Amino acid sequence: MTGAARTPVGGPRRAGGPAGSAHLSADTRARARELIALYPHPRSALIPLCHLAQEEVGWLTPEAMADIARLLDVTPAEVLGTASFYDMLHTEPVGSHVVSVCTNIACLLNGAAELLEHAESSLGVNAGGTTADGSITLEESECLADCDRAPCVQVNHRFVGAQTPASFDRLIADLRTGARAEDIPDHGTLVRVRRTTGLEADPSTVAAERAAMAEAQAGRAAAAEAAKTASEGVGGDS
Ligand code: FES
Repeated sequence: MTGAARTPVGGPRRAGGPAGSAHLSADTRARARELIALYPHPRSALIPLCHLAQEEVGWLTPEAMADIARLLDVTPAEVLGTASFYDMLHTEPVGSHVVSVCTNIACLLNGAAELLEHAESSLGVNAGGTTADGSITLEESECLADCDRAPCVQVNHRFVGAQTPASFDRLIADLRTGARAEDIPDHGTLVRVRRTTGLEADPSTVAAERAAMAEAQAGRAAAAEAAKTASEGVGGDS
């Protein structure tokens, strides 16, 4: 990735356009199906699929969420309901670099308020805003669990150590020129090594678990139907 041309807020990252009615690329949808195959219930892959879509698009657009819903056979509202709960998933456009400044107690005692004030002033946006060039979204954050390096700053969920106003400005300049592209990829990228082995479930185990769940579900439905029939019989007798 070069840093010269940053992705506009909400703009697609891939070069090609969507195929058919799908918004996500064929590659992403293929990877999504591989992930779904790892779980007894397809809907269990909802969060991994959100990360996958966010990696491609940068945030979870309504179209991406509709694609995820189709892949999982759930409603788009269910995707939104889950995605909107988690800080790492964005259902509104964000810049290619999400800069989080912790203002919790350890950081507050080490200059976090001054750092955030400087960040807002130098970037020209309030916390929660995105710069006009779409490169930086500034966030005020709760404890990021790096309290011994206060005031703590993260970019795209990567720790960048304690920052001063001067080092913060250098960091932003590096992000904009792409000088940190190796250790801080665009927002949405969690890992750049594709998993090919390791945690995959045995397909026969997944199939057996799905069959057992379907059988249990059918049993519950039959029991409910029998109970309903019995109660209707009692009601009819009286
Ligand atoms: S208080 Fe800021 S990282 Fe914990």
